[in-house]
Amino acid sequence: MRVLKWTGIVLGGLAGLLLLFGAFAYVAGGMKFNRTYTFAESPLPVRADSATRARGAHLVRTHACAECHGPDLGGKVLVDGMPFARIVAANLTAGRGGIGTGYRDADWERALRHGVNPQGRGLLIMPADLYTHLADDELGAMIAYLKTLPPVDNELPATELGLVGRMVATFNPLTMPELMTSPAGRPATAPPMGPTTAYGQYRTRTLCIACHGADLHGAPHPDPAGPYGPDLGVVRDWTLVQFATALRGGVTPDGRTLDPHWMPWPHFSHLYDEEVEAIYRYLQVLPPRTEAPVANR
Ligand code: HEC
Ligand code: HEC
Repeated sequence: MRVLKWTGIVLGGLAGLLLLFGAFAYVAGGMKFNRTYTFAESPLPVRADSATRARGAHLVRTHACAECHGPDLGGKVLVDGMPFARIVAANLTAGRGGIGTGYRDADWERALRHGVNPQGRGLLIMPADLYTHLADDELGAMIAYLKTLPPVDNELPATELGLVGRMVATFNPLTMPELMTSPAGRPATAPPMGPTTAYGQYRTRTLCIACHGADLHGAPHPDPAGPYGPDLGVVRDWTLVQFATALRGGVTPDGRTLDPHWMPWPHFSHLYDEEVEAIYRYLQVLPPRTEAPVANR
C-alpha cells in the first residue's frame, strides 16, 4: 500500500512537472518564435527596365526559390507536422493569398537579406544566410523581377509552431537574423559576370556556402535530415567538363548521381557557362580550410 502511495505521489509529481515544463516551453518557445527584429532600411536601387528584370529572373531561377516556393512561386506547405510545426513557404506573387500586393521594396529586402517578415518575425528554413551576400544591384534586380511575377491564386495557412516545436525552439537556436546584419565583404555591386575567380568566389557565397560551409570545406546540411555537404576541395582534381556535369547534371566523375532533393543541381542547370567556369576557377584556388573540421556524419 505504502509503495503504491509513494508511486502515486512520484508519478503525480512527475506529471505536474511535465505539465509545468510544457506550459513553460509553450510560452518560452512561442516568445522566441514570435520575437521581432528591426533593421534600418537602406533603400536599394530597384530599376524596372527589362534588362534589369531579365537579370533578376536569372538570379531568381538559379537561387532555387522555386525549390521551396513552388515552380510558379505560388507557395507551398513545406512541413505539415502539427503539433511540431507547420512551415509554409509563402505565395510570392500578387495573386489571391500572395504577399506580392502588399510588399514594398524594403519588405523584399528585409526578407531576403535579414530573413525576417514585414512584422519582424524571423523566417524559418528560408536561406537568407545565402541571400544576405547578394550585392545591392543583384538584390535590386531580383526584386524588380519578383514584383512582375504572374499572379497565382493560392491561399495558404500561416506558419505555426506547435507545442513540440516550441519545446525544441526553447533549447535550440531557432532563427538567427541578428547574425545577418551585414556580412563582411558584401559588395555594393557584384563583380562583373565572367569566368574569373572573383566572380566565382562571390557566386559561391550566394549559392553554395549554406550547405558546403563558409570556407566550402564541408558542413552539415541545413536540414537535419539531409546528408553532409561534402568538401568542395575535391573539385581541384576534376576537369571543367567533369565539374559542369556534376553541377548542372548531378553526375560526379565517378558516376554517382547527386540527390536533387539535397543538392539543388536542377536549379544550377540554369547557370551560364561563364558562371560555372568562374566557380570552377575559384575552386581550383580555394584557400585551405579555415574552420575547425566538422565531423563527417
Ligand atoms: C529552402 C527553402 C526556401 C528557399 C530556397 C527560399 N525560401 Fe523563401 N521562404 C521559405 C519559407 C519556409 C518561408 C516562410 C518561413 C516562415 O513563415 O517562417 C519563406 C519566406 C519567404 C518570404 C517572406 C514571406 C512573408 O510571409 O512575408 C519571402 C519574401 C521569400 N521567402 C522569398 C524567397 C525568394 C525570393 C527566394 C529565392 C531567392 C526564396 N524565398 C528561397 C523557404 C525558402
Ligand atoms: C541545399 C544544400 C546544397 C547547396 C546549396 C549546394 N550543395 Fe552541393 N551538395 C550538397 C549535398 C548534400 C551533396 C552530397 C549529395 C549526395 O551525395 O547525393 C552535394 C554534393 C556536391 C558535389 C559533389 C561532391 C563530391 O564529393 O562528389 C559538388 C561538386 C557540389 N555539391 C557543388 C556545389 C556547388 C558548386 C554549389 C553552389 C553553386 C553547391 N554544391 C550548392 C548540398 C548542397
